[in-house]
Amino acid sequence: MNILLLGSGGREHALAWKLAQSRLLAGDEDRLYAAPGNPGIADHAQCIDLDTADHGAVIAFCEGERIGLVVIGPEAPLVDGLADSLREAGIAVFGPSKAAAQLEGSKGFTKDLCERAGIPTAGYVRTTSLDEAVRALDTFAAPYVLKADGLAAGKGVVIAATREEAEAALADMFGGQFGEAGAEVVIEEFMEGEEASFFALTDGATILPFGTAQDHKRVGDGDVGPNTGGMGAYSPAPVLDATLCGEVLERIVVPTVKTMADEGMPYSGVLYAGLMLTEEGPKLIEYNCRFGDPECQVLMMRLESDLGELMLACANNALGAQPPVKRSRQTALTVVMAANGYPGTPEKGGAIDLGEAEAGGAKVFHAGTKREGEQLVASGGRVLNVTAMGDNVTAAQKAAYEAVDAIDFPTAFCRRDIGWREIEREAKG
Ligand code: AMP
Ligand code: GLY
Repeated sequence: MNILLLGSGGREHALAWKLAQSRLLAGDEDRLYAAPGNPGIADHAQCIDLDTADHGAVIAFCEGERIGLVVIGPEAPLVDGLADSLREAGIAVFGPSKAAAQLEGSKGFTKDLCERAGIPTAGYVRTTSLDEAVRALDTFAAPYVLKADGLAAGKGVVIAATREEAEAALADMFGGQFGEAGAEVVIEEFMEGEEASFFALTDGATILPFGTAQDHKRVGDGDVGPNTGGMGAYSPAPVLDATLCGEVLERIVVPTVKTMADEGMPYSGVLYAGLMLTEEGPKLIEYNCRFGDPECQVLMMRLESDLGELMLACANNALGAQPPVKRSRQTALTVVMAANGYPGTPEKGGAIDLGEAEAGGAKVFHAGTKREGEQLVASGGRVLNVTAMGDNVTAAQKAAYEAVDAIDFPTAFCRRDIGWREIEREAKG
């Protein structure tokens, strides 16, 4: 069949690489298209221009090219209802409806759902004015967790150490710092613990656990400095052991999927649960309605099942007929090479030579690259995701940094300690 993948980052390069290995694309006539794609994705797919905000144009392309499955990578088109438009046109799509994507698109929606379904999460208040929000601070203690309700490109969360900082941040949020996303602000109880992520595929009825991961959000070694989209990740996350995964599934993911279905908003696609492992057990921090970036890269490295068949089964409400997802027992670890300046203004146009980085089995996923003639150059903040496998986090980290060191990319930097928490634990045995 023909498949259309939407997106342009490292997540989509990993998806394209894995989809290209699917039996669905094994025939001579089968085509993988990507819109807009990137130079790495172009190794596996035909990259095309398509405005995903123009649902009519996406549908017309799918009809013209007889697309049998659309895979939506990023959250914005999902929250915008592209999956609904495609389904109404009779086109199979991997990704939730607009109603179901509220799990990522509205923090308040998700907190209310957790309350209705008895899902463990931080206590919270939803507020719609500065006055109301400032008064609500009285019922919380420092540090204060403040969240713009809507999508804010990962920047909508402020953890304020003092009441003064909290009030200033609230004034910014209601003052329009995040546009419409900040018209409502959720104030939450601060949770203590280690963070980890749990991924599951679902068609609204069947749930297949897809793997676990941990990422590093801060820009600097030792987890310091400003937040980023993620500077590296590894999978599996050994802190989420089989017992905890069972608990997450039973107490968080199953009641979410069931409540969404019972309330007429069946969730279909990948559900990404951001978790805090507290002394009282795992609690939900937030949901995302797509794969994580760069978590997807490590999940795809380990995936042994056929990604295309799993995604098509989600789209067709047929996940119940699929066997459990097969994953390598090895650990995958990815290091993000970012352009100097990131997460502020990244330097654009820096030349990249990948050299022999992939010679030892590593994969270099393109996140923010473009071609200028024959030359590969940086075109974004996070530019490359250098990904490798090993028997544990220590070995996977070593292999990933060997690949990083084989790349000539003078205008970039990366963290040198991805996986440090787990590597410390491995050293202690
Ligand atoms: P979110 O975008 O909701 O994942 O929040 C971004 C980051 O803020 C999370 O990865 C956590 O590190 C932190 N965070 C969010 N909510 C809380 C909370 N209730 N308690 C402690 N930390 C939080
Ligand atoms: N790496 C975090 C995210 O994709 O949301």
